[in-house]
Amino acid sequence: MKNYTPPKKLFKIGESATMKAAEKARELRAKGVDVISLDVGEPDFPTPKPIIESAYKALNEGLTKYSQSQGLLELREAISNNLRENFRIEYLPNEIVVTTGAKMGIFYALTALLDEGDEVIIPTPAWPSYFDIAKFVGAVPVQVRTGENFELLPEDIEESITNRTKALLLNYPNNPAGVLYDKRTLENVAEIVERKELWVVSDEIYCRLVYDGEFTPFSKINRMKDRTIIVNGFSKAYSMTGWRLGYICGPKDVVKEILKVQQQTTTHPPTFIQKAAVTALNECESYVRGMVNEFKIRRDIFYNGLRRMGFKIQKPQGAFYFFPNAEDVYSEAEKFSEHLLEKAGVNTTPGSSFGMGYEKHFRISYATSREKIEEAISRMEKFLKT
Ligand SMILES: Cc1ncc(COP(=O)(O)O)c(C=O)c1O
Repeated sequence: MKNYTPPKKLFKIGESATMKAAEKARELRAKGVDVISLDVGEPDFPTPKPIIESAYKALNEGLTKYSQSQGLLELREAISNNLRENFRIEYLPNEIVVTTGAKMGIFYALTALLDEGDEVIIPTPAWPSYFDIAKFVGAVPVQVRTGENFELLPEDIEESITNRTKALLLNYPNNPAGVLYDKRTLENVAEIVERKELWVVSDEIYCRLVYDGEFTPFSKINRMKDRTIIVNGFSKAYSMTGWRLGYICGPKDVVKEILKVQQQTTTHPPTFIQKAAVTALNECESYVRGMVNEFKIRRDIFYNGLRRMGFKIQKPQGAFYFFPNAEDVYSEAEKFSEHLLEKAGVNTTPGSSFGMGYEKHFRISYATSREKIEEAISRMEKFLKT
């Protein structure tokens, strides 16, 4: 067999840490071990029925051909209306590109903004794919730690800016800590962004999953619309992870370049899925609210459980994650996630993949049923007692 040596650019990236963690649970389950998965960032709710029916209908009506590379106009109009109604921000359909998931949106945004060697600041803890995608496009991800309660520290962001810094990547509500940034902090960050002439990529995939406080889109802060590329998607709010659909919004000249990348890669996401997404936006608000209510209940159950165990965490305001520090309760904190799986059959994601200095943390996803959450808490309590 011929030896295969991957090209150098592939040495820069690794496997998806979150997928790897989930795979471990799958393997154990296949061996008959009873594992509770608190690993993947995937809502356990089924995709709402109207969305599924809309996809069927679109297939039957022949929406099986190429569409506009930028995405169906009808969908871009629905996105535009949705952003206006929910957040009072204005994006015209020609400032939007429909993408194959938010992940592709991140790839496009970083590709369109960053040259070889350019630096992108990523406040940590952060979704691990940001680091890999940044490296893959030839840029340098610069990690800047957040505060004790994962709050953004504008002065630390400013200190890490060099003459190669081109962009700042924000994500709130945040994966893995669930934090939401307040308007005042965002204004302070915006002031730095403007003064240092940076771009902002704002990953707003969890913007509908907010339980306390209010989500402020970054592009709504003073003069930030011209400097911001929003990345969003249908995976989380509409429980459509497997449909692979997202979108980016941004200034027209950036959108034009992003469109070139889409035309030369995926062309566009499947046409019938785009049609189903119109139904998601226009007809499924009650489903989103139902999921948000349920996530809030689950968050509270888990929060109380974690506090009872001795974790000194704050209540996350959004998304569906906790990012506790195992040091609060366990002497071998760096091994907590591993030991919890081995000894208690509860699978979480180790903190090390979310940024440097988070080796003692672990991520819990509470996108699972209340029964499983109760059972996971009881197993964790028992594990800690022994
Ligand atoms: C912060 C963040 N951004 C983007 C994504 C990817 O979303 P999509 O399924 O739309 O590609 C995820 C998925 O876990 C995420 O947590």
